[in-house]
Amino acid sequence: MDKLQILITGGTGYIGSHTAVELIGAGYDVVLVDNLSNSSLKAVQGIRKITGIEVPFVQVNCTDNEQLGNVFRQWQFDAVIHFAAFKAVGESVAEPLKYYRNNIDSLLTVLEQMQATGIHNIVFSSSATVYGQPDALPVTETSPRKPATSPYGATKQICEDILRDTAASNNLKAIALRYFNPIGAHPSALIGEEPHGVPGNLVPFIAQVAAGQRSELSIFGDDYPTPDGTAQRDYIDIVDLARAHVCAVDRILKDTQKPYYEIFNIGTGRPVSVLELVHTFERMNNVEVPYLIAPRRTGDVTALWADPSLAARELGWHAERSLDQSLQSAWLWEQQRTVPIT
Ligand code: UFG
Repeated sequence: MDKLQILITGGTGYIGSHTAVELIGAGYDVVLVDNLSNSSLKAVQGIRKITGIEVPFVQVNCTDNEQLGNVFRQWQFDAVIHFAAFKAVGESVAEPLKYYRNNIDSLLTVLEQMQATGIHNIVFSSSATVYGQPDALPVTETSPRKPATSPYGATKQICEDILRDTAASNNLKAIALRYFNPIGAHPSALIGEEPHGVPGNLVPFIAQVAAGQRSELSIFGDDYPTPDGTAQRDYIDIVDLARAHVCAVDRILKDTQKPYYEIFNIGTGRPVSVLELVHTFERMNNVEVPYLIAPRRTGDVTALWADPSLAARELGWHAERSLDQSLQSAWLWEQQRTVPIT
């Protein structure tokens, strides 16, 4: 029997590339599309090297009906995992139209192509940002979505609503995974996060400070009402996060019964403060991370962590890799990532 075929949009990005590796490991065939606006062909090389498979890659802009249509005509997909989106929170505040146009258009184009070619299964990359600052922690999937704190967050909320309404109106099956804070890299250090310019996220910034590329980390606020005054997040290892997509695809393809829309939190359930993360990185990797305390960053929430029990119950998924392991892999990747793959 032919293997089941999965289209991964944003397939060369941080989460897309790790998901490709895990899907192939689970016995799926994958096709990667990406416009390479925030990633590079190095990810394709890395995926091929890790898996030993000449994974197909097509450079496509997912907002372009014709380009994407060609891909849907060339392969017969069983499911789509849609990652392709802009994701820089700060940039979305400065350029909201760019974010609304790209992130919403790309989902609509993917859904229209799926409809036109009779594909009914989609897994969508949502974000814990849809919760805003919740009234109670940890958040469950039924916790209310608060007003988005950035246009980026608003696009995730809108995309979730588009999926909910589309699933209700025809025979679409959709699963939205709400990621908490993805960190780390594949243990091979052949793929990982490639931030362009100054990293906005904590772990890539710490890694660059440890590597001496930046003089110090600014910790944004130490006066939050948390145990050590710094903000708390739920840091989820990228390989664990990638595995959650395999579980979601397994579920959606196994369940032949009904159209539906489901949401799952993908996190560890453990809050970690900025200071705790910095000190763990130093200890695990035997490096120093000089830091100073800076003012709070606009739009940051005090604390956000998941109740991941629904994913455990329904998807059979739970986080397996420890913070220690994630931060070791992040450091290994930082040291390797400038070395070309041979
Ligand atoms: N932080 C610093 N210094 C830095 C960078 C970050 O102190 O240089 C702090 C932040 O203030 C925050 C924590 O580290 O308290 C984590 O910040 P990140 O930027 O790594 O992550 P965020 O929680 O702000 O955002 C992440 C994703 C978003 C997603 C959001 C969901 O980047 O895409 O989680 O909560 F929307």
